[in-house]
Order: sequence, then structure tokens, then C-alpha cells
Amino acid sequence: MKSGMTNIIKLSSILLIGLITTQVIADDLCYLSQKKSEKAFPSLIKCYKSNSDSCCVSAHDSEIGSEIDSFLSSSCVRRFAEIEFYFCYGCHYTEPKSTNSTANTITLCKSFVERLWGSDINSPTEKFDHCGFKVGSNIEIPSKKWASASAFFADVLPPLFSGFSIQIADDDKNCFNTAPGHTLVALGVALVAYLTV
Ligand SMILES: *[C@@H]1O[C@H](CO)[C@@H](O)[C@H](O)[C@H]1NC(C)=O
Repeated sequence: MKSGMTNIIKLSSILLIGLITTQVIADDLCYLSQKKSEKAFPSLIKCYKSNSDSCCVSAHDSEIGSEIDSFLSSSCVRRFAEIEFYFCYGCHYTEPKSTNSTANTITLCKSFVERLWGSDINSPTEKFDHCGFKVGSNIEIPSKKWASASAFFADVLPPLFSGFSIQIADDDKNCFNTAPGHTLVALGVALVAYLTV
């Protein structure tokens, strides 16, 4: 009787985890590689965080790398993790979930934008002022150039996504975030292992 109940709990947990897992791993094709995400080989250098599961290939990574290196000075390039994630957007394994290539939109989660911007997303930010950004051939002091995060995204798109526009959505929508979905899956797997022992 008691163990029957436990089994029901175990079974529902497994079903729930399965559901979460399928939600996290969307099986749409990647915009850049035009395939499902897979382990990068050869390894990516600039977007190395996507090496274990990538939506781009080496040539995309190289192009993204030269764009980041032009955008930020070499002293500043490693200082802003979210800017790196933003530039490496096309390599991230969740990219298909937040790209609509019919409407040419990329949807970012509000909490990601807040982390990137570092202050009220509807106001200018001074977070990047000591570094400056190079956009085209102009060097910009970000707080003087962009009145909001949206204004910034209108001028600075992830490399290889020209013609796209950036939208910002609440976190529960299909949107880009760097909260690691793979960690969630790993946790799920660990929980299943625990429950089935
Ligand atoms: C993508 O955009 C098109 C055109 O706006 C829309 O009809 C479609 O529903 C969108 N797809 C998704 C998955 O949101």
C-alpha cells in the first residue's frame, strides 16, 4: 500500500521531469548551422561556452570573434559576460527557441536584459562607459548614446543576424536567457536516479 503510493509519486516525478526536459530541449533547427545543436568540432574559440552543444560552426565563431574584438577593446572583452552571450547568441543551443526567422525577431528574457544592462532597462546605463563600444567606425560612450536597452539592441545586433529586431519578453515566455537549461536537465536526471534507487 505504502510502496504503491511511493511508486505513483516516483512515476509522476519522472513524467514531470520528462515534460520539463522536452520543454527545455526544443528540437527546432538552429538558424546558423541549419541543423540541430550538436557538440562543436572543431572547438569554438570565442563562443567556447557553447562547445558541448552548439548551434553554430567554426566559421560562425570566427566571424563572431572578429566582431566582438572590434566592438570591445582587448582589455574589456572579458568583463561583460552577458555581452559575450549576446554576441554568441547564434551559437547557443537554445537559440531556436527564441528566434523567429519568419518574423526576423529574437526575443530576449527580461531578466537577461536586466543583467546585461545592469540598471533600469528603460534608462541609460553607465556600466560600460569606462570601456566604450565601437559601432561601425564610431566609438560610443554608451550612456550618452543609448537611452534604453531597446535602443542599444536596435543598433547592436548579434553578429550574423542582420535584419533581425530584438524583442524583450517576460521570463516565462519563449525567450533567450543564460540560465542554464542543461543544469536543469542534469538535476532532473540526478533526481530520477535518486527516485529509482
Ligand atoms: C513567427 O512569426 C510569424 C510571423 O509574425 C508568426 O505567424 C508565427 O506564429 C511566429 N512563430 C512562432 C513560433 O512564434
